[in-house]
Amino acid sequence: MIYLDNAATANPKAPGVGEAMVRCLQDYNANPGHGGYHLAVQATMAVFGARASLSRLLGVADPSRLVFTSGATAALNQAIRGSLAESGAHVICSAWEHNAVLRPLWDWRSRTGGTVTILPPRDGYPFHPDDLERAVRPDTALIVLNAASNVTGVLTPVVAVGEIARRHGIRFLVDGSQVAGHLALSLQDLPIDLWACPGHKGLLGPQGVGLLYIRPGIELQPLIVGGAGFDSSREEPPDEAPERYEAGTVNTPGILGLGAAAEYLLAQNPTVARSREITVLAALQEGLSRVHGVALFTAQDASRGVGVVSCRIAGWSSGRAAEVLDRQFGICVRAGLQCAPLAHQALGTAPEGTVRISIGPFTTEQDIDAVVRAIARLAEHPSNTVQLGSVPIA
Ligand SMILES: Cc1ncc(COP(=O)(O)O)c(C=O)c1O
Repeated sequence: MIYLDNAATANPKAPGVGEAMVRCLQDYNANPGHGGYHLAVQATMAVFGARASLSRLLGVADPSRLVFTSGATAALNQAIRGSLAESGAHVICSAWEHNAVLRPLWDWRSRTGGTVTILPPRDGYPFHPDDLERAVRPDTALIVLNAASNVTGVLTPVVAVGEIARRHGIRFLVDGSQVAGHLALSLQDLPIDLWACPGHKGLLGPQGVGLLYIRPGIELQPLIVGGAGFDSSREEPPDEAPERYEAGTVNTPGILGLGAAAEYLLAQNPTVARSREITVLAALQEGLSRVHGVALFTAQDASRGVGVVSCRIAGWSSGRAAEVLDRQFGICVRAGLQCAPLAHQALGTAPEGTVRISIGPFTTEQDIDAVVRAIARLAEHPSNTVQLGSVPIA
């Protein structure tokens, strides 16, 4: 089996993740923050340690500003719904956003009469900074953009956008789902206010845990309120992060698994890891670009992207191509719209979408050769000329 769907979830996870989760269930099996006896204190300290490791990895000096959520979707919902007024206002995003951004925005718009400006792609850019400047209005409350597209892997100029947002005094939320763990980050040094990401993609942790970085001074309305383990007679949730945004029992095994992944990533040289990603991505892009009948949607220069390539294969629907890649070649890739419908409208690949190939830190050159060869076979044998299982492999 060759796994090339790391943009959906990393496989394999970092060494040590599974062991840390098992250790948690065996050794720290108490409720962190909800008890004063020694086992509960051990669990609390273990969560504290994982938060500290992740803060070091992501460049956050005050770990209390790094909130654990159940995933990027939960973090984005907290950031978006917790930032926007019920009386409406104006939000700017791009055509490249995931439904984890778009659907909370559509929901807010329909409930409040707020407006959303979607920056269109222009002149070969995912969006043009001039269009962003032009879109700003006196009531613009939020700019939300991903740090890289999950369809093409193209990186967003986060710093340039952040400077525009700062100049206008607008809150800036970054969906870092495809970038966390791929680029060395110092979140506190970026001109951003909020950063959401899952733990299970580039951070190489388990599913069911994500992160929201909230810059000091930024207040959000908590989406979920409940027990915090202290001040129980107060009617309101705690005022302080992270407890304000972590009501109830946290996902302790998931958090400790993610903490182990952070320790693994901290032990790697980020420059070496990134240059390896660029090399493998460039080999994939180069290999596929030589296949007649394949249209590529990816960063023009691998150094301007993360490890994602979308493609269409002449004579094949993306769904059927992915099915044959799986059943006949043992290669796992994602087909369809990848939860980013507007991105496919922008690319001209809607409604069918693309075949998306996404690499991870453990992807080898042999994996790349295998997927390029398999796609070349498909391109030589249009779907309507073969039965499933009959594309010549050799
Ligand atoms: C850009 C982007 N944003 C948000 C998400 C949602 O992440 P999760 O499903 O972990 O909540 C994804 C996952 O595919 C993504 O690629």
